[in-house]
Amino acid sequence: MKREAVFVSEEELNRQRAFAEAVRENPDRPESYYVVTYGCQMNAHDSEKITGMLEDMGMKPAEKREDADFVIFNTCCIRENAERKALGNVTWLKEVKKTRPKMIIAVCGCMVQEPGMAQRIFRKYGFINLAFGTANLHKLPEYLHRVLETGLNVVQVENQDVIAEEIPVRRLRYDFAYLTIMYGCDNFCSYCIVPYVRGRERSREPEAILREARELKESGVREIMLLGQNVNSYGKGIPGGFGFPELLKELDGLGIPRIRFMTSHPKDLSDRLIDVMAGSAHILPQFHLPVQSGSNAILEKMNRHYTREQYLERVRRLREAIPGIGLSTDLIVGFPGETEAQFEETMDLVREVGFDSAFTFIYSPRVGTKAAEMPDPVPEAISSVRIQKLIALQEERQQEALQRFIGTEEEILVEGLSKRSSRAVSGRGTHGISVTVDGTEADIGEILKCRITGLKNNTLTGERADQ
Ligand code: SAH
Ligand code: SF4
Ligand code: F3S
Repeated sequence: MKREAVFVSEEELNRQRAFAEAVRENPDRPESYYVVTYGCQMNAHDSEKITGMLEDMGMKPAEKREDADFVIFNTCCIRENAERKALGNVTWLKEVKKTRPKMIIAVCGCMVQEPGMAQRIFRKYGFINLAFGTANLHKLPEYLHRVLETGLNVVQVENQDVIAEEIPVRRLRYDFAYLTIMYGCDNFCSYCIVPYVRGRERSREPEAILREARELKESGVREIMLLGQNVNSYGKGIPGGFGFPELLKELDGLGIPRIRFMTSHPKDLSDRLIDVMAGSAHILPQFHLPVQSGSNAILEKMNRHYTREQYLERVRRLREAIPGIGLSTDLIVGFPGETEAQFEETMDLVREVGFDSAFTFIYSPRVGTKAAEMPDPVPEAISSVRIQKLIALQEERQQEALQRFIGTEEEILVEGLSKRSSRAVSGRGTHGISVTVDGTEADIGEILKCRITGLKNNTLTGERADQ
């Protein structure tokens, strides 16, 4: 099962650059593009790479997907509804394409990498001109060139665990940047499709990460978000015991104002990592720590490798070392065989911890995963009741938890104008919670000091403390 990561060679990247050039010079190439992104931050960042490659091939962004010559859907398949949404939206575009025959429709991302999906696309979705998986993203120029040259549909899924450096990137924001530190996942949580569609876990070289971080800093980026499915286990295959805490320490030393990361797995959250965070200058005091369930029996069936008690101990240790730390989590209800009592254990855990935010999901069986074969599925009607109860409890606890910020100071990186008022801006505070404060467009991308004065619908409101 174990395979080595393959670095995409300079030669291969040069081949792709040559294909990009050929597309650029092709008079029949698409003039405009539109990228539709589903799923997590990894996909958001992959879309920045896709955009970078498309711009490199001479295309310009279109306002709407139906106006674009080239539309690409970067898909997710974490739950069935994610997949249904993507396929539904692609199919909608089929009608538009009937009136604009030159439109090229492409599909990529995790869904395409699912077993059997490429064949299904090829046979059933003939209007899709191009489909490729997560492992061969860097070959977009070659595929597009082939579509243009032959007029045939290209469906290409590879299974190599590659690390591709130096793909052109078009970042969506100038003040904030994603920085991938690792690809894939080896945890095989029994419900999860990610290890099957993103391949084996592989870490980028520390030098490559640090180089990219320095460039980002020089370009004026104020905040970076380190990305990986399980950043805590960064460093597998890197010699000298250079792991995530060591990487964080080096990054902290670069002087980028704000650094955060996701996602962490509780089983790999070491004391050393907590100590490095506590002693750092720029690593933000926030932690996304998915617990999934509060029941030991369910955690074991989920293959999570920690108990409820161990999880609570990690939370205690984090709060002790970094007082006031922002904590968020992911929760699944209706895992196969989950009893009412086991669900109540999740409720108890949520009551006990008091998370600042939580993503809650109804379990969705994914073909090919272990849990999809497990007996005693929980009926949808029961899962719906459970998730409602869980959401209601989380909201209540969240309101209580966020009270601790009232009267304190937070620094926020302004993301945009507030949705509620044109004279207010909002952004994320150091603890990861949204804050709304008086401001104008000129503040976007700036770090503002705020005094927190209130709490409205899970958003903190504040006054500027910098004037
Ligand atoms: N690598 C990250 C994120 C994985 S996907 C992590 O381990 O935390 C994000 C979340 O989706 C997971 O934390 C889990 O709560 C949820 N999820 C994954 N597979 C799911 C499934 N089959 N059904 C419902 N929720 C799922
Ligand atoms: Fe999925 Fe588990 Fe890996 Fe997260 S750690 S991506 S939930 S297998
Ligand atoms: Fe979805 Fe793939 Fe992310 S399945 S959640 S886009 S890793």
